[in-house]
Amino acid sequence: MKRSKFEPLTYPGRLRVLQFLVGVLFLYLLFVSFEIPLVFRTGSGGYFTDTLPRPYVLESEEDFSYKTAPARPGNDPNHVRRPGGERKVREVKGVSGLLFNESSFDSIGSKGELSALHKTARHAFVVGRTLWGDLQSGQKKSDSIPEQQNQTKNQTESCPDSISLSGSEFVKQRRILVLPCGLTLGSHITVVGMPHWAHAEHDPKIAVLKEGDKSMMVSQFMMELQGLKAVDGEDPPRILHFNPRLKGDWSGKPVIEQNTCYRMQWGSAMRCEGWKSRADDETVDGEVKCENWIRDDYNGSEESKTAWWLNRLIGRNKVALDWQYPFAEGKLFVLTLRAGLEGYHVNVDGRHVTSFPYRTGFVLEDATGLSLKGDLDVHSVFAASLPSSHPSFDPQKHLERLSKWKAPTLPEGDVELFIGVLSAGNHFAERMAVRKSWMQHKLIKSSRAVARFFVALSGRKEVNVELKKEAEYFGDIVIVPYLDNYDLVVLKTVAISEYGVRTMAAKYIMKCDDDTFVRVDSVIKEAKKFGYKSIYIGNMNYHHKPLRSGKWAVTYEEWPEEDYPPYANGPGYIISSDIAQFIVDDFEKHKLRLFKMEDVSMGMWVEKFNSSKPVEYQHSLKFCQFGCIEGYFTAHYQSPRQMLCMWDKLVNQIKPQCCNMK
Ligand SMILES: *[C@@H]1O[C@H](CO)[C@@H](O)[C@H](O)[C@H]1NC(C)=O
Ligand SMILES: *[C@@H]1O[C@H](CO)[C@@H](O)[C@H](O)[C@H]1NC(C)=O
Ligand SMILES: *[C@@H]1O[C@H](CO)[C@@H](O)[C@H](O)[C@H]1NC(C)=O
Ligand SMILES: *[C@@H]1O[C@H](CO)[C@@H](O)[C@H](O)[C@H]1NC(C)=O
Ligand SMILES: *[C@@H]1O[C@H](CO)[C@@H](O)[C@H](O)[C@H]1NC(C)=O
Repeated sequence: MKRSKFEPLTYPGRLRVLQFLVGVLFLYLLFVSFEIPLVFRTGSGGYFTDTLPRPYVLESEEDFSYKTAPARPGNDPNHVRRPGGERKVREVKGVSGLLFNESSFDSIGSKGELSALHKTARHAFVVGRTLWGDLQSGQKKSDSIPEQQNQTKNQTESCPDSISLSGSEFVKQRRILVLPCGLTLGSHITVVGMPHWAHAEHDPKIAVLKEGDKSMMVSQFMMELQGLKAVDGEDPPRILHFNPRLKGDWSGKPVIEQNTCYRMQWGSAMRCEGWKSRADDETVDGEVKCENWIRDDYNGSEESKTAWWLNRLIGRNKVALDWQYPFAEGKLFVLTLRAGLEGYHVNVDGRHVTSFPYRTGFVLEDATGLSLKGDLDVHSVFAASLPSSHPSFDPQKHLERLSKWKAPTLPEGDVELFIGVLSAGNHFAERMAVRKSWMQHKLIKSSRAVARFFVALSGRKEVNVELKKEAEYFGDIVIVPYLDNYDLVVLKTVAISEYGVRTMAAKYIMKCDDDTFVRVDSVIKEAKKFGYKSIYIGNMNYHHKPLRSGKWAVTYEEWPEEDYPPYANGPGYIISSDIAQFIVDDFEKHKLRLFKMEDVSMGMWVEKFNSSKPVEYQHSLKFCQFGCIEGYFTAHYQSPRQMLCMWDKLVNQIKPQCCNMK
């Protein structure tokens, strides 16, 4: 609230003070009930607190030191208590104040037609309203029924040590072995199976058909460790994708491809083509990434002979047997996948075949399912040495003892930076890691910066019930009441803007993900370089074009233009509040164009804003899109464990360092 209007008044006596307080209260009520737009909404013409004095200014370097213990908001000596009848604590809203209703999406589509995205959004809100209603009314019930808790407890304790399925049971479970608590160091899974004989395929995808060919003989299968607790509408992350291609690979040879796919983005593939990894390549727990097998391209010619022997010489000095490719059509195999210290190891018929180093962004406990698809008969699957507990599955336990990770109550005064963190209902472990790491920053503890998670509703009721409990306990979640959907992330961005300007009256608004590590102080410092200008800071992309083919293709209906506007990568960017205000106004006037990629959408909105008031575009690679670099402002794809490690380094070391642990 804007107390400064009343400051010039003096208080000659106690009675006067009382009168003054009553007067302020009256004016405050007047403001609230009539929403006098005088101070609150000066439109996009300028930042509305420009003329107001700041309660505290962040300038001295000491303000940015990490070493001081986080001060409780009430005891913060830097915090200036102000006289006057202002409310001491800002109203904390746990639900987004963005006004959504069916007609919100009627007039946005061009040519009077609703785009697919708007239809999705409308549906998500209709369903979301029901879910939200259920959650509100069900809350009282579930509080008084202890059965709910017993059920939860039982779930948390059902982490089996081993699981075994016969082939037919496996098929019944839609070819997925569920690992309720994920994997841990030393866990192993054994698969007995038999690859099918090759069949003709018209669209093999793993090879390019030669001119004139109608089809190609293909035999391949995919073994995947997946994170099954993913968001609805989002493909589960593939923590390990193990893909033997017996026939049909574009190289014409049998190969094994391995990869990961996280947040719907494939990493770079690791191919084993029958050559043993070179001696100077990194090993995984002392094992090579690829073992050799006999290649049928050893045809006796001088050229390939030389290559063949050279490789043998580099690869190993010992005399060794020549092995066949580990899989053969119609031949039974026994495959064992083992979780080591540095990566996954695959043995087939007792012999080591490949090792795949763990990649950033994944932890073993995330691997909650093993799927086997493709040209393969599964005879049995057996998993053992599984973990006995999973942090994500035990929210109650965390709730009991971690009150120090609750959000601080907001004191009066303006917020410099509001950070909206995109999250999903079941990303409890990720949120917990954020709470325990960078949300412990002094600037957040003293509410100069405020961070909130933005979560939509899940189609699964238990997830919503847990979410609501978590939100009530920690006070740092803003529920955006629509049915979560990957294509609608952009609505959370609008909700972040709304919350940032309306509830927080923040000067800068930042958006990041729940696997982003934020250096709060340096982000604020970056933003403050520009004074009161309109800003858009992040890792900018210029002249990017939409992908027009493949699984994640953008259709011309969705994005008719050839180029994207300049836009900052989604895992971490900052805008000034005037831009956020402009976005919210446009949204509420149903004039805001939405696109399924939230970062591109933001670029589009800022571009529109820029046409009436100049915006400072600031590009920095230190807002990392992939992983982390030294001296980062934000790091991305950080697993919960890495988050804690980075925080530890930030607190205990002078230089911000990455945690590229395996
Ligand atoms: C939806 O929005 C329209 C236009 O803003 C408004 O007239 C209508 O009353 C709203 N409906 C509901 C249910 O809030
Ligand atoms: C819940 O569990 C407690 C003990 O663990 C038991 O006493 C209680 O009866 C259970 N409640 C229900 C509804 O099953
Ligand atoms: C927990 O679940 C198992 C089966 O999943 C059941 O046998 C057991 O009785 C349950 N325990 C409680 C306390 O409900
Ligand atoms: C043997 O392989 C090499 C390259 O792999 C090729 O150039 C050559 O023509 C082949 N020779 C025969 C006899 O197939
Ligand atoms: C922003 O607007 C200015 C002035 O209209 C223009 O020169 C500039 O190119 C715009 N920047 C972007 C990134 O669109």
